[in-house]
Amino acid sequence: MARIVLFENIHPSAREVFQAAGYEDIVTHAAALPPESLSEAIRGAHVLGIRSRTQIDAELLAQNPDLRAIGCFCIGTNQVDLDSALSHGVAVFNAPFSNTRSVAEMVVAEAILLLRRIPEKNERVHQGFWDKTAEGAYETRGKTLGIVGYGNIGSQVGTLAEMAGMNVLFHDVEAQLPRGNAKPCVSLKQLLTQSDVVTLHVPGGKRTENLINEQTIAAMKPGAVLINASRGTVVDIHALHLALKSGHLSGAALDVFPVEPKSRDEALDSPLRGMPNVILTPHIGGSTQESQENIGREVAEKLVSYLQTGATKGSVNFPEVAYKERTGDSRILHVHRNVPGAMGALSSVVANHGLNIVAQHLQTRGPIGYVISDVEGEVNDAVISELRSNPVTVRCELV
Ligand code: NAI
Repeated sequence: MARIVLFENIHPSAREVFQAAGYEDIVTHAAALPPESLSEAIRGAHVLGIRSRTQIDAELLAQNPDLRAIGCFCIGTNQVDLDSALSHGVAVFNAPFSNTRSVAEMVVAEAILLLRRIPEKNERVHQGFWDKTAEGAYETRGKTLGIVGYGNIGSQVGTLAEMAGMNVLFHDVEAQLPRGNAKPCVSLKQLLTQSDVVTLHVPGGKRTENLINEQTIAAMKPGAVLINASRGTVVDIHALHLALKSGHLSGAALDVFPVEPKSRDEALDSPLRGMPNVILTPHIGGSTQESQENIGREVAEKLVSYLQTGATKGSVNFPEVAYKERTGDSRILHVHRNVPGAMGALSSVVANHGLNIVAQHLQTRGPIGYVISDVEGEVNDAVISELRSNPVTVRCELV
């Protein structure tokens, strides 16, 4: 039975999933461990559960040959050396969808608050003023929301915004199926010139760096508001600052920044601090109790599915094989070097033991191949040891 070791206070929903699937050997650590104690803590583990603070490098992977899978109970997977994990036959999973709704709700709430100038009014009342005025305050109903990046989060924002009576436009570099009554725009400019609220949901990286800059802000409607809960590098903060100061934009909400504080004691360094009708939040778009619980469940379910059926769909580093109904008496999971003859080596070992392969599902990714074989007849330890000792084999398991 697999030994599961979980770090960094992973939500108890993960343990519930493992236990419901019959796994009892579960060790939990409340925090991330420093490298010296981490190596000791993961010895003998078959499955690791981590969040963003636990670093899994090539050395740790080489020292722990029992390790079969790593669950990153978060979105990012930079903390794991993914190529090295692949070459050791360790499948890595994460939770790309679990906080989608949390981000989408926050964005729609911010659109409503900014159009009513609530952040500024709230601040004034706290300071002892009573500026009762309708000036500059608008309903969201009938206004146009422009979504840049219509992926998991962007499309969910559109669905919620329509429920508040907004017209939804979107722009994406890839063709996307419009949800509800959302309309695609052929260019970013077309979207910017028509939107009262622009919200960004693109990935980070070079291709989207400063996508919102002096020129693109100039294309936005006077009095529009900008929301960024994607990546800090997508917006040129200096250009946004100028547009807010000049009144060209009437407000902004930012959850992400080009440089973010590293700890809770550090202050955000930004010219936007203290500006009226600007909401600044500490990268918490996806941080809710519900998303933590969903993440626990989503990743644990992927790990259980891998352990019990070999399915790797959604893995961030591994050849992806979707769930397949078992057709034989036994199932062999074989991770091998992606070289000529690897499949032949597997087939001949199985055949030499008088067993018949009745179904096979193969995928490759770079240097590694992964094949699930359903076999008629009982596969014993001798078959698995022989497969494990074959030079093409990286890992072999019977499930
Ligand atoms: P996704 O990958 O599902 O969607 C991104 C979309 O942007 C894709 O449809 C892609 O084709 C499109 N795109 C890429 N480059 C583009 C460009 N130049 N112009 C227009 N469209 C472009 O990603 P998902 O899950 O929706 O996440 C979106 C962003 O939100 C990511 O940057 C992610 O890191 C961030 N995020 C932020 C959180 C927070 O706490 N604030 C939490 C979760 C995600």
